[in-house]
Amino acid sequence: MKLLVIGSGGREHALAWKLAQSARVKRIYVAPGNGGTGSESKCENLRIPGTIESVQGQEALCAFARQQGIALTLVGPEAPLTAGIVDRFRAAGLAIIGPDKNAARLEGSKVFSKAFMEKYGVRTAQSRSFSDYTQALDYAAEHFQKTARPLVIKADGLAGGKGVIIATHYAEAALSLASFMQEASLGAAGKAVVLEAFLEGHEVSVLAAVSLVPGKPGTILPFIAARDHKRRFEGGQGPNTGGMGAIAPVPDFSQAAAENFRRCILEPSLRGMEQEGMDYRGFLFFGLMVRDTLCSLLEYNVRLGDPETQALVPLMDFDLTRLCDAILTGRLRDFSLCWKTGAVCAPLAVAGAYPGAYQTGYPIRLDKERFSQTGALLFIAGAEKKEDPEAEPGLYTTGGRVLGVSAWASDPEEAWERAYRAMGAISFEGMAFRTDIGRGPAHS
Ligand code: AMP
Ligand code: GLY
Repeated sequence: MKLLVIGSGGREHALAWKLAQSARVKRIYVAPGNGGTGSESKCENLRIPGTIESVQGQEALCAFARQQGIALTLVGPEAPLTAGIVDRFRAAGLAIIGPDKNAARLEGSKVFSKAFMEKYGVRTAQSRSFSDYTQALDYAAEHFQKTARPLVIKADGLAGGKGVIIATHYAEAALSLASFMQEASLGAAGKAVVLEAFLEGHEVSVLAAVSLVPGKPGTILPFIAARDHKRRFEGGQGPNTGGMGAIAPVPDFSQAAAENFRRCILEPSLRGMEQEGMDYRGFLFFGLMVRDTLCSLLEYNVRLGDPETQALVPLMDFDLTRLCDAILTGRLRDFSLCWKTGAVCAPLAVAGAYPGAYQTGYPIRLDKERFSQTGALLFIAGAEKKEDPEAEPGLYTTGGRVLGVSAWASDPEEAWERAYRAMGAISFEGMAFRTDIGRGPAHS
């Protein structure tokens, strides 16, 4: 079978790598892909006109899938999903993994997803939604008169990771509200906001496969837990990033917490999705805050996580194309998700100044022999092969998050050691990484 993977990050490289392991798969097109997916076995990058979220880009992808007889399409990021790529592909009779545009609002609109959580009793932080700036400001003032606890401000729409502010005092809250709602610093995404109580605990990411069509009972099959480390610096310090590394499984996510998640979050979510008549045949990511054994839902993401996916794929002891078949044919309930024992540590290497303004275009040096001795996998996030015949052949950085290594071992400590030995075989100018992925504080 021929597959199409949409996206260009480390998650998509990890997905392409895993899909390529299947004997059923002959060819994988990755649109637009990156310098890593272009060199992966069975894989080829596909350049399209326009972006993957634009009408032009999605029409081109759809036409390509029809012409090439693509058996299955997987979508990495949220933007093409909220723009309706699943609706477009299904209308053309093409098999695609993901929620339709309506169900993708679970991530695309915080106001919608919070209302959904409240309506169906999914445990989450107490909150209020506002589309009126003055009312939001009054609510923030009242909050800080009553308590010294921080207030979480969430822009309603997709904001590329810039839409959540944890305000510790009123002036900070007022500044963020003005910036989102009056100055439109995030465009339409900040027109409405959710103001939410601050929760303490450890963050855990539970990704899941979902098979749900309107009018029928659905299934949500959760994966083993993973954890992203979002802060830029060791010990959970510094600004938030798109993720500095991930681990799977999560040693402090107990059986009792997993049971609490199932009862208080997964089951009411599924009931709600059924009652809303959602069409959801894809992956769903539950972003949790866990305190002891009590789980609260911070957010839904309607896709796989990045970098969580890089930590999960080496542990998947099943054919991902078969899981996709089960999602699409309504046989998910009978699918048995087998996970390898052991642990994965997956740190990322970033440009030195990331997440601030950073430079790109630096060559990446890889000591292949040293790297291969570690048994780690290399997933490229932001690097391309240079087309310029004058330049030295190889990969050159193009993004802030440049690459990740995913190392498996029988225990987390050994996985950590392998991962950082693998990192030691790679260098580029300004390369930076956290050294405590899987070791640092669990909330980081
Ligand atoms: P979200 O996009 O809603 O997951 O928010 C992004 C990040 O902000 C989360 O991963 C948390 O680190 C943090 N966050 C969001 N909501 C809360 C909350 N209610 N309490 C504490 N931290 C939060
Ligand atoms: N790792 C967080 C996300 O994928 O949104």
